[in-house]
Amino acid sequence: MPIQTTANIWHNGKLIPWEKAQVHVMSHVLHYGSSVFEGLRCYKQPEGAAIFRLSDHMQRLLDSARIYRMDLGYTLEQLNAAVIELIEANGVAPCYVRPISFRGYGEVGVNPKGCPVETYIVNYPWGKYVPGDAGADVCISSWNRPAPNTMPSMAKAGGNYLNSQLIRMEADLNGYSEGIALDVNGYLSEGSGENLFVVRGSTIYTTPLANSVLSGITRDSVLTLARHLGITVIEQPLPREILYIADEVFFTGTAAEVTPIRSIDRILVKDGNTGPITHQLAEEFFGIVNGSRPDRYNWLTPVNVQAAEPVGA
Ligand SMILES: Cc1ncc(COP(=O)(O)O)c(C=O)c1O
Repeated sequence: MPIQTTANIWHNGKLIPWEKAQVHVMSHVLHYGSSVFEGLRCYKQPEGAAIFRLSDHMQRLLDSARIYRMDLGYTLEQLNAAVIELIEANGVAPCYVRPISFRGYGEVGVNPKGCPVETYIVNYPWGKYVPGDAGADVCISSWNRPAPNTMPSMAKAGGNYLNSQLIRMEADLNGYSEGIALDVNGYLSEGSGENLFVVRGSTIYTTPLANSVLSGITRDSVLTLARHLGITVIEQPLPREILYIADEVFFTGTAAEVTPIRSIDRILVKDGNTGPITHQLAEEFFGIVNGSRPDRYNWLTPVNVQAAEPVGA
């Protein structure tokens, strides 16, 4: 999907024109994958627009940076304010927001000492991520997620997405919308960019953080909504075959939101239709983000967006 441009990008504290946001080919990040980033959504509301779980996302950016000993030089409050400033300046909602911090141009060599840390925040319109309106057809990937003592999964770091690219490209080439990876011990982990949920009977299961998954903010939101609805939620290691006998399976993620899964490895999930628990959770989730249900958990940060259309295409 081509990127729809906006007028401004936030860079190290200032708004700069979209086309001026460029990096040198010798930047550390291009050679060694040394970036940490976020992805968040700003939704249209009946009145204006609102960012979903802004502070949680920006805290995760700071956490990812901390894991990689990267000092961003900004507080959580400053980063939150920067996202709001950018969205309001660009006047685009709904939109996706991509903050990214990386090791820039400085020295050569793997050790990033001596390379400045640059922070950019970009926003642009972005729609559905996992294809398949009637539920996604997915496969188990031949690629595993990285072992816990290799690439830290709790850091949302650029380098981790080399693994995600392998999973996603393989799925795509074989005619699937997405791939689900196993962890290094053969237990279910997650999709290339989504957390995984399984429903059996009236219980929801999801894979724990120790199975090499990103600590998803949508995952946390769905767990919160499920508990509020009185549904039992269990986080535990899951074997692959539970997918083939599940009543419902779905993905969560900022990009994927709540995406029902219709089949895995060409085996239909139940009868192939979106199940009642997935449906109920999706309704709760979309109700809150679209403003038709109360924001009981203070997940939304209102923004003042004048225009509702992108500046360029
Ligand atoms: C590998 C991976 N897992 C899970 C998720 C879902 O996380 P979140 O709900 O915070 O977007 C993402 C998306 O950021 C991801 O890239």
